[in-house]
Amino acid sequence: MSLLEAPGTQPAVEAADLATEALDLGYDGTRVVHALDLRLPPGRVTAIVGPNGCGKSTLLGALARVHGPQGGAVLLDGRDLATLRPRDAARRIGLLPQQADAPDGLTIRDLVRYGRHPHQGLLRQWSPEDAAAVHRALTAADLLELADRPLDTLSGGQRQRAWIAMVVAQETAVVLLDEPTSALDLGHQLEVLDLVHDLAAQGRTVVLVLHDLSTACRHADHLVAMCEGRVVAEGPPADVVTPGLVRELYGVESVVLRDPTSGTPVVCPVRRVGTR
Ligand SMILES: Nc1ncnc2c1ncn2[C@@H]1O[C@H](COP(=O)(O)OP(=O)(O)OP(=O)(O)O)[C@@H](O)[C@H]1O
Ligand SMILES: [Mg+2]
Repeated sequence: MSLLEAPGTQPAVEAADLATEALDLGYDGTRVVHALDLRLPPGRVTAIVGPNGCGKSTLLGALARVHGPQGGAVLLDGRDLATLRPRDAARRIGLLPQQADAPDGLTIRDLVRYGRHPHQGLLRQWSPEDAAAVHRALTAADLLELADRPLDTLSGGQRQRAWIAMVVAQETAVVLLDEPTSALDLGHQLEVLDLVHDLAAQGRTVVLVLHDLSTACRHADHLVAMCEGRVVAEGPPADVVTPGLVRELYGVESVVLRDPTSGTPVVCPVRRVGTR
């Protein structure tokens, strides 16, 4: 049993209501996300899916206040995120970026300790509470034995779990994970997805970017499908994922089956549209 599941060890979390209002995002005059109105259900897992370049990571960056809007707003509990101090935003919202770099020689434990940074200040230095949060996160990500290894000596999957542990240690009400399982073997994928489920069960608002539609259907309560910077479908995965959606998103013909254990949609790609 991970420590996250142990009763009383995880601090109670105040649910966060995260939404966007007519949100426009882009880079240097180029618009990549258009007039997005989105509400991320509190205490639930939302998966964002869509083709490469459709704006998923850009959106996640904006939800974490690391990427400013060109228009509209991100609202946290009804308040414009841009008006929050960065440290206050970091106490409420944790982001695992798609690509994350750390200085040479940094160990897993150093990185995970860094996740506690937003909780410190002039009057609040490193505390037993921080140490406990780091221990919980290392345990949850199955990294206790590797904790003192430098990141640059790890495998890609071990490194990915270290970054996930850093975000978990932040103990934020909103947890945003950009392709958190892309480098993980099947066992560690399920471990991370179970952890994601636990985080939502504790009342956190969890948002994942995933490429595998069947995994998204199995592990998310709410699915947001994006194409060219717009939401094209949204809702419970079983209602949203159809061969028509797969064709619209990826230009791929597919058969959608039911997972025999969970009953959730399983997408079997057949061919690209227009090919034999
Ligand atoms: N720093 C940047 N400067 C300029 N353009 C960018 C920058 N980052 C992303 N883009 C562009 O913005 C668009 C959306 O990129 P984004 O990374 O949000 O896509 P994505 O949906 O996360 O794709 P992927 O599935 O490949 O990760 C793309 O056209 C991309 O080329
Ligand atoms: Mg991306």
